[in-house]
Amino acid sequence: MSLNEWPAYKRIAVDVVSATGSELTTRDGRTVLDLYGGHCVNTLGAGDAELGRVLSRQWRDWSFATNLLDHGPRREFLQAFERLMPAGDWCVFVTNSGAEANENALKAALAITGRRRVVAFSGAFHGRTGGAASVSDTKRPAYPSMPFESLRLPWNDLAAAERTIDASVGAVILEPIQSLAGVQEPAPGFLETLRRRCDAGGALLIFDEVQTGNGRLGTYWASQRFGVMPDLFTTAKGAAGGYPIGLTVARAALASSTPEGLMGTTFGGGPLALAMASAVARRISAPGFLEHVRAVGADFRACCVRGPVAQVRGEGLLLGLVLKPGHKAAVVRDALLAQGVLVGTCDDPSVLRLSPALNLPSDAPARLAAALDAVAAETEKASAAAVPTPPVAATPALGSSASPRPAGKPAALGAGS
Ligand SMILES: Cc1ncc(COP(=O)(O)O)c(C=O)c1O
Repeated sequence: MSLNEWPAYKRIAVDVVSATGSELTTRDGRTVLDLYGGHCVNTLGAGDAELGRVLSRQWRDWSFATNLLDHGPRREFLQAFERLMPAGDWCVFVTNSGAEANENALKAALAITGRRRVVAFSGAFHGRTGGAASVSDTKRPAYPSMPFESLRLPWNDLAAAERTIDASVGAVILEPIQSLAGVQEPAPGFLETLRRRCDAGGALLIFDEVQTGNGRLGTYWASQRFGVMPDLFTTAKGAAGGYPIGLTVARAALASSTPEGLMGTTFGGGPLALAMASAVARRISAPGFLEHVRAVGADFRACCVRGPVAQVRGEGLLLGLVLKPGHKAAVVRDALLAQGVLVGTCDDPSVLRLSPALNLPSDAPARLAAALDAVAAETEKASAAAVPTPPVAATPALGSSASPRPAGKPAALGAGS
């Protein structure tokens, strides 16, 4: 008999034994600055003291409740989360993950419009369940058939959006910034075009804010950053600071027009998740919090175009470091890890991703800059060592015992060279 883990992931070679805030401690006693933040999940870093207290208090008070019963954490969550809402009236449905949040948004949009066609975009990632996978890019294996008709348009192609989004389309779903695709921002006018085409044809616009939401871009939502409002939006990852949660948010008029029985969940909206999400919402809406996100994000942009990095793109603390030609993201990530900084990769092998805790220390950009310089110095040293040396004279100099080095073999580096 044996039991092994499903071989789903290619693991990064680091063994973490504990973490506090944005600092990881490895088994061999090293400290690593975490700029990946558990792919946007650790909004307040690791081991946040307040979140710890909230979780244990809620466990003690009432650990689980069916959605058929009312409870304090639900009322508290609605109050705390309401502070983050864009203008207007909204309803929220709580589940456990980003994929579920998107499933519910798609299902609701198709039920409301009575249509079965969804427009999505190349490069998109919306999750691995049936509906969510159907609107994600085809580069990942998914189900053999799709539960509804899905049209995938090229990202940022305004003309394709103009042509395709008509009265046959029930929903248009997108990440306002495509994260896994390499932190791809929307082109000027792209979101506005989608909004206009949806309004003209009666399709519902869904923003997947699983990564971009909860303060990540320096605004509560990407919609506020870009000034384009969706009809529904989803979030997950960082919304409860590490506790599993998924949120589907819709204009109140739309939510109240969905048929009874369409939505439902056992674990979603349990008191533990809601207590954690309330605490996170209160923290990110505290004075100065989003200013910190914007300021540290600006510092990363200002000081990290160096060494292997040619360009920084993205917003707030969802950033893509675009590498110079010839550099591979996985190789640079490993080299940065050796320098004590953890960053992420993505579907684009020439882009590294930063999605750190939003309350990370202000010196994080300087620490990444120093690590990038060290990686560049190492690379330079290694390529100098790899330069083939001119052939050595066949006859050794008189008095020398050195034997000629075989052609092509790199010279060994002496100390200090
Ligand atoms: C933009 C986006 N949407 C949806 C998902 C799916 O979320 P989950 O893994 O919680 O189901 C992810 C996960 O990475 C994501 O990045």
